[in-house]
Amino acid sequence: MSDVDAPQPPHDAPLPAEAARPQPAPPEPARPIRSAQASPRENRLTRIARGEVVEPVVHAALAGQTHVLEVRELDLWYGMKQALFNISLGAPRGQVTALIGPSGCGKSTLLRCVNRMNDLVDSVRIRGDMLLNGDSIYAAGVDVIELRKRMGMVFQKPNPFPMSVFENVVYPLRVDGQRNRAVLDEVCEESLRSAALWEEVKDRLHESALSLSGGQQQRLCIARAIASDPEVLLLDEPCSALDPIATGKIEDLIGELRGGYSIIIVTHNMQQAARISDFTALLYLGRLVEYGPTADIFTRPQLSETQDYVTGRFG
Ligand SMILES: Nc1ncnc2c1ncn2[C@@H]1O[C@H](COP(=O)(O)OP(=O)(O)OP(=O)(O)O)[C@@H](O)[C@H]1O
Ligand SMILES: [Mg+2]
Repeated sequence: MSDVDAPQPPHDAPLPAEAARPQPAPPEPARPIRSAQASPRENRLTRIARGEVVEPVVHAALAGQTHVLEVRELDLWYGMKQALFNISLGAPRGQVTALIGPSGCGKSTLLRCVNRMNDLVDSVRIRGDMLLNGDSIYAAGVDVIELRKRMGMVFQKPNPFPMSVFENVVYPLRVDGQRNRAVLDEVCEESLRSAALWEEVKDRLHESALSLSGGQQQRLCIARAIASDPEVLLLDEPCSALDPIATGKIEDLIGELRGGYSIIIVTHNMQQAARISDFTALLYLGRLVEYGPTADIFTRPQLSETQDYVTGRFG
């Protein structure tokens, strides 16, 4: 356990990806308060809230993994406000990684960086990089459309398109120009089966997706997200609008997709994170606090602050 909060190396040297981007320099980060001023026993979350640089604790088990996604010293600003601070973490391939932390700590922001959805927000400035299976996501010249085809994203609120169930599922293939009906039929059935929805909709494929229940719509969105066989599946609180039965179905589905897919899921539900994920990262005010195997994070975390958060004694 790295419990010593050594002063960090300067973090303001531009990375190659940043140097290549034709963007104005991001605002200078507020000068961090160095940890030497704090008692090492003082609560880390209090120290983070004061603006101190507090080293995250990353469990040794992460080092032995092959990562589908690597986040490297990522900083993000919305205008003048910094929302992510020097995040570095790897998401193991074929496993489920949960991002947890209080509202506003940057979970969705981090997830949206993976498919560069934050590019759509004018005020956003990013420094650092992410690698998808070794390929830079933020290097100059990355084709964002092609990049997004390599990942699937599902949001808190189901967002089926106003078209039939069938057309929703095969949408990614249509965009790619696929017209072969046999291929489309096969992918549609396969994806709906994988999303545990086939039996419920096989006789309604040509009805509007908007006629499905909320839980069915969310599984439809997952079917659409996996139809193009993505390298990583990004789920942002996919069950928060669902009842326990629909939630159970999505959780079972995540369990079945594990192995074939690498999944990163944001959840506020601690029991859900404990049930379905292999690794868990706790974020707080834009900083990584502790990251390790889920069993360790929930039963024997290295930080008492993590213990307090996962047992509901904080926040
Ligand atoms: N488009 C935006 N413009 C400005 N600030 C934003 C924007 N989106 C998010 N933020 C800010 O960035 C910080 C992180 O927000 P984010 O939505 O990533 O948090 P979160 O951990 O996903 O929260 P929640 O659990 O409530 O969904 C917050 O302070 C938020 O106000
Ligand atoms: Mg969020």
